[in-house]
Amino acid sequence: MEIKVSERLKGIGEYYFSQKLREIEQLNKQGKNIINLGIGSPDLPPHPDVVKILQEESSKPNTHAYQSYKGSPVLRNAIAQFYKNWYHVEVNADTEVLPLIGSKEGIMHICMTYLNNGDEAFIPNPGYPTYSSAVKLAGGKCVEYELKEENNWEPDFNELEKLDLSKVKLMWVNYPEMPTGKPATTQLFEKVVAFGKKHNILICHDNPYSFILNNKPISLLSVDGAKDVAIELNSLSKASNMAGWRVGMMVGAKERIEEVLRFKSNMDSGMFLPVQLAAAKALSLGTEWYEELNSVYTKRREVVYQLLDVLNCSYDKSQVGMFVWAKIPAAYKDGYVLSDEVLYNKNVFITPGGIFGSNGNGYIRISLCAKEEVLQQALQRIAS
Ligand SMILES: Cc1ncc(COP(=O)(O)O)c(C=O)c1O
Repeated sequence: MEIKVSERLKGIGEYYFSQKLREIEQLNKQGKNIINLGIGSPDLPPHPDVVKILQEESSKPNTHAYQSYKGSPVLRNAIAQFYKNWYHVEVNADTEVLPLIGSKEGIMHICMTYLNNGDEAFIPNPGYPTYSSAVKLAGGKCVEYELKEENNWEPDFNELEKLDLSKVKLMWVNYPEMPTGKPATTQLFEKVVAFGKKHNILICHDNPYSFILNNKPISLLSVDGAKDVAIELNSLSKASNMAGWRVGMMVGAKERIEEVLRFKSNMDSGMFLPVQLAAAKALSLGTEWYEELNSVYTKRREVVYQLLDVLNCSYDKSQVGMFVWAKIPAAYKDGYVLSDEVLYNKNVFITPGGIFGSNGNGYIRISLCAKEEVLQQALQRIAS
């Protein structure tokens, strides 16, 4: 019997990391003991109080039922308070906040909510690969906007203005940018919001890295009038060390929350209450939590800088987030060649920048989610 997959899966491959992890597993079976500096999955645990709440709540008999599609009021209030405390953005906890099972699912929900077949969506090149797969799965067409080092990894709005924008329905934006580490600025966010308003394009800002190695977390929603044209995704995966817990959020105008909920409420049936209550605790942690986290990442980043020096790569020290993005030496055709050389000769895996789009070809990305000792070991292997 021949089983055919749906048309919508055409052009959607297996996620790069899923394939690469299989290859690394094979190499490990051959006894290679690969050090993986690829994925941004925090190795550190959440705050102990967060884990304690999960334990206590899940041992109660009455916390196991289906939950509201809109999320527990405790979590929604914690999200609203978090936006107020850290970003100085006022949001209504009842109507302008939607907890998500990770922000990756939110990317899909947003595309399914707003894109018709053939509608266009702007995605950054280089950028998080999920934007393009979600746009395609929803039937939309990706229009890449270029991010280049010479433009400080910001969109060139003059170039975008020259395009036919009549079919562009939404624009994915992500600052601090992954993979380039380019920090957010209010000026940039103002330009993005003005562009969205002028051309009636829904701005979808993805903000999971604002607390990592960054002193000034900013939300795009802090720009005056942003809620009229923009929504924002945020995540507990990175800054709260809760990647496996799957907790994220969407914040935006009441109408946008209702629209996305129309789709989402047909996909899942809410989130485990103890996870939501523990997530609320994580969002209430103070400055100390982030300072401690960033002191660890700062030390790790120093070792990564040394490693990049050995590889003759160049990098901008003003970048933020959970990775270091670096330009490869001219001797290499692209980041894939360098990545493979380091993988096969030094038993260290580094992400080639090209997986994030063609503008990433001349770059590599190193994750800070490895212990300092492991990074030291990787440095020794590469230097040897
Ligand atoms: C830019 C960006 N957005 C979203 C995500 C997904 O995060 P979550 O764990 O909340 O789904 C990631 C994870 O790597 C990311 O790098």
